[in-house]
Amino acid sequence: MQLNVALLGFGNVGRALAELLLAKTDTLRRDFDLSLRVVGISTGRHGHVIDRMGIDLRTALDAARHGFSLDGLQPNNRAIPSTERFLADCPADLVFESIPTNPHDGLPALAYIFGLLERGVHVVTANKGPVAFGYRELSDLAARKGVGFFFESTVMDGAPVLGVGREGLPAASLERITGILNSTTNYILTRMEAENLRFEDALAAAQQIGIAETDPTLDVDGWDAAIKTAILANVLMGADLRPADVDREGIRGISLQDVQAASVAGQRIRLVCEASRAPGGGIVARVAPRWLPREDLLATITGTTSIVNFESDVLPRLTIIEHNPGPATTAYGMLADMINIARGRHANLHQPVAPPASPDS
Ligand SMILES: NC(=O)c1ccc[n+]([C@@H]2O[C@H](COP(=O)([O-])OP(=O)(O)OC[C@H]3O[C@@H](n4cnc5c(N)ncnc54)[C@H](OP(=O)(O)O)[C@@H]3O)[C@@H](O)[C@H]2O)c1
Repeated sequence: MQLNVALLGFGNVGRALAELLLAKTDTLRRDFDLSLRVVGISTGRHGHVIDRMGIDLRTALDAARHGFSLDGLQPNNRAIPSTERFLADCPADLVFESIPTNPHDGLPALAYIFGLLERGVHVVTANKGPVAFGYRELSDLAARKGVGFFFESTVMDGAPVLGVGREGLPAASLERITGILNSTTNYILTRMEAENLRFEDALAAAQQIGIAETDPTLDVDGWDAAIKTAILANVLMGADLRPADVDREGIRGISLQDVQAASVAGQRIRLVCEASRAPGGGIVARVAPRWLPREDLLATITGTTSIVNFESDVLPRLTIIEHNPGPATTAYGMLADMINIARGRHANLHQPVAPPASPDS
């Protein structure tokens, strides 16, 4: 099977994906009868390229590495003026989307994905924004058009968290999901405890090595964790939450004294994500720093490692831990999504529906 693909976004994740597509060319052909042709690459400020005959990924990676514009690779030398034009003209069957997350409304990626699905193009995204703000509408549209809309890498990078929840637990009723889903805050809390650092100093250390953004709001105020919690609740528990519906508290208010007091009491502070069925029906979700006994599995998670626990009526506790996440593991989640779409997995996806809240709850 020949699949024409395009990369919307060619930053850390897009380039890691390009490397992985090159590395897995033989495996894809041999094990999945999949032959890929990359027909388009689009960036924000570094140009766009469309080539129906196939773009040489090595050349594109070299151009990106040297900071050159992709416009120079355009076969007819006519630069593509915008992402909108790129999307309208690109002859891809499947688009990998990895542009920056907009935590406020998911745009412009949300609109790009709507347009692609509407035209019958499969979409794989690593971007949390469109999923947090448009999961239900985008999934319904994809189903109506008979195409795939997959987003495994939005939660715990390449770890198959959504895949296990959606496909590995048929007929299970998920009662509660807990986890540590934000690497930056876990790294900060780990260093505060291990080195007696104040919050500001641990944050500065995380920024210095590129784990925290210059503007750390999204991470330290719990927004990233809330977005991921909403995605898990919506996709796996049938909730219909927006990030603002998640009761959210970040770690900005955690002092070194708090961390030390927890330690003296044999505890650790972790930013815990939780989504659970409310007694009267419906799903409640929250993100908050919690004191946990040091032997609690969540408390043992250090540095940038992430963890998720599924509690269901059939498997009391199922845990997935992801070590050493990064652009390469994120790229793997996107590759796996593409293979699953090529295998037609999108055609029979189960979308759980949450039981409605009872009138007196
Ligand atoms: N990094 C990770 O490990 C990781 C893990 C999980 C999920 N994610 C998600 O993956 C996405 C990408 O992350 P990243 O680290 O690769 O970010 P990045 O390095 O900043 O790359 C973003 C890419 O998107 C391009 N871009 C921006 N606006 C665009 C537009 N309107 N049209 C087309 N291209 C556009 C940028 O082009 P210019 O550089 O030319 O502006 C750049 O190529 C984000 O949504 C992130 O939350 C990342």
